[in-house]
Amino acid sequence: MDSIKVGLLGLGVVGGGTWKVLARNAQEIARRAGRSIEVTRIAVRDVAKAQQLVGTSVKIDADPQGLVRDPSIDVVVELIGGDTLALDLVLTAIDQGKHVVTANKALLAKHGNEIFAAASKKGVIVAFEAAVAGGIPIIKAMREGLTANRIEWVAGIINGTTNFILSEMRSKGTSFAAELAAAQALGYAEADPTFDIEGVDAAHKLTLLASIAFGIPVQFDKAYIEGISKLAAEDIEMAERLGYRIKLLGITKRRPEGIELRVHPTLVPKESMIANVEGAMNAVLVRGDAVGQSLFYGKGAGEEPTASSVVADLVDVTRLLTADPEHRVPHLAFQADAMADTPILSI
Ligand code: HSE
Repeated sequence: MDSIKVGLLGLGVVGGGTWKVLARNAQEIARRAGRSIEVTRIAVRDVAKAQQLVGTSVKIDADPQGLVRDPSIDVVVELIGGDTLALDLVLTAIDQGKHVVTANKALLAKHGNEIFAAASKKGVIVAFEAAVAGGIPIIKAMREGLTANRIEWVAGIINGTTNFILSEMRSKGTSFAAELAAAQALGYAEADPTFDIEGVDAAHKLTLLASIAFGIPVQFDKAYIEGISKLAAEDIEMAERLGYRIKLLGITKRRPEGIELRVHPTLVPKESMIANVEGAMNAVLVRGDAVGQSLFYGKGAGEEPTASSVVADLVDVTRLLTADPEHRVPHLAFQADAMADTPILSI
């Protein structure tokens, strides 16, 4: 069967990670998806730099409009960020009948209603697992695994940069500025890190989680947002002395009078699970009426954790496009032919 042809918009931290994961695990990914997933075109600003990572076998240019209109491309992966050019490119890709995978929470939080309406009219998929909580498959968990539940609330640490800053300041006594610089160097922070430290990035993600949890349109403009920039080292130290840690939490809750949507620094008891989520890790707690409380924990930012979610979406889209029923059912993880040569070890 022909491979799925992917056009990659952007080859920064997440784009580079996506390229590497797709290349490293190509065989297994193809087996699981039912077809090979092949990046055939990349649009970037710096073509020479992209060629250093990818080589010259893939078409690389600085023409994103050409990419989203390229009839040979089946799926566009948008990893350029921002919400102006990205909006135009995503809407054009949809209009061209292409499926879209994006990690762009800012774009979806602000323009998701328009984008999802356009996709549904055109009958294409817009998948965005990587937009929320990096490598944690929280979108799939809520949409699929918890789909039987009436969700009561969702709360958690959904920004890796601020959690990294707070953890490092507390454990090492270092400064806010030094730890922000470290988070940027590690590839955790947004291009504009104000989005991280002022709670905007967490609110983008929370808006998307609330939309899935409660079946409501995305309403980022209604969120209450307070970041960590006004916190001083003394606040962190004082909280510690009183038996608490300060965490930037996103909380969305169903109440009789409406839905809460808020991001702010919160005191959590030191011994609680959420207090012990450190570094760039994320943790999302979901309360459903049937399942009770579930905790999802993992790497919330960074090159390959986020790429893990981008590639998962690519596999999902590929499965949906593949007629072969065996591959339309993702839980058929066991494949006799693939496992035949793998011994079970005696211990
Ligand atoms: N800047 C984001 C964070 C990246 O720190 O969580 C992952 O969405």
